[in-house]
Amino acid sequence: MSCLPPHLLARDSLGGHDPKVGEALPGLTVVPDIATLKSVKMMKVVTAEQMRWIDRECIRRGTPAQVLMEKAGKAVAEETRRLLGTLEKQQILVLVGPGNNGGDGLVAARHLHDWGAGVSVYLCSERAADDANLELVRQHGMTCAEAAQDKNLEEFDALLASSSCVIDALLGTGKLRPLEGVFRQVLAKVNEAKTKNKGLRTIAVDLPSGLDADSGAVDPDCLYADSTITLALPKLGLFTFPGAERAGKVTTVDIGIPDYLADEVTTELIDADWAGSVLPSRPLGGE
Ligand SMILES: NC(=O)c1ccc[n+]([C@@H]2O[C@H](COP(=O)([O-])OP(=O)(O)OC[C@H]3O[C@@H](n4cnc5c(N)ncnc54)[C@H](OP(=O)(O)O)[C@@H]3O)[C@@H](O)[C@H]2O)c1
Repeated sequence: MSCLPPHLLARDSLGGHDPKVGEALPGLTVVPDIATLKSVKMMKVVTAEQMRWIDRECIRRGTPAQVLMEKAGKAVAEETRRLLGTLEKQQILVLVGPGNNGGDGLVAARHLHDWGAGVSVYLCSERAADDANLELVRQHGMTCAEAAQDKNLEEFDALLASSSCVIDALLGTGKLRPLEGVFRQVLAKVNEAKTKNKGLRTIAVDLPSGLDADSGAVDPDCLYADSTITLALPKLGLFTFPGAERAGKVTTVDIGIPDYLADEVTTELIDADWAGSVLPSRPLGGE
């Protein structure tokens, strides 16, 4: 028996087969013609382990990891620009962690800077000495502060106070343990700033930091994101409470991973488009 929330559905729960015209789906009385049903695809939803496998497989089949990161970061920057409406007069603070989530944040920072936003980068942990995306951030003249050099997080406080938007690229599917230290402190400060300044926008890359990708469990200081830009495929924890409450509006961006790599994934998301395609239309005055 599935313990997924109602808007998540394993294909098996549809009986493991495509419904026939006129055949009832569980909880529905009418199935529209099969052409309509197939025209609206359900979105697959993955666990962290499934996403890691899909990433690895994509790289093994010839897409270099740096290419995936460039596509991911650029897609995050494009979606951020769409969410903010304009980059003019925006001051964006990008929080960067140690792994690929942080790498995506560095790429997004560079593009947003090149497209006219004011962008600062805050490194919450050390990155590799030969990190090309960090080097590019420095070459492009962005403010780049490091928690390790920031006594009492004073520089962080100043950057946060002058920001109109925070992009959280601290931790994604690689979160392995509870938040602590500077990760916990900066996220608590961003959440607090958001309660005082409703205009401060918060955008998470892939997952709000502190959210468990599989269970949706959250650390107490997990970011409250207005929006989460999730990469390639949405992660289960974004739709499972309490995580769903921290994720805000979830958008999924294409980073060039072929669809067929997710063929084996059987958990799918019922969204408004799909529901609209299977529900019978009713007269406005119908009960
Ligand atoms: N190829 C790509 O560019 C690509 C493709 C798809 C997705 N992504 C992105 O990359 C992410 C996955 O990258 P990733 O596997 O490198 O994982 P990550 O989420 O970026 O973080 C992993 C790093 O965080 C550290 N860590 C784990 N828990 C922590 C905690 N509570 N506090 C502080 N540090 C912690 C781990 O190091 P230690 O345990 O050693 O401290 C590890 O270095 C995805 O969420 C997505 O954003 C990238």
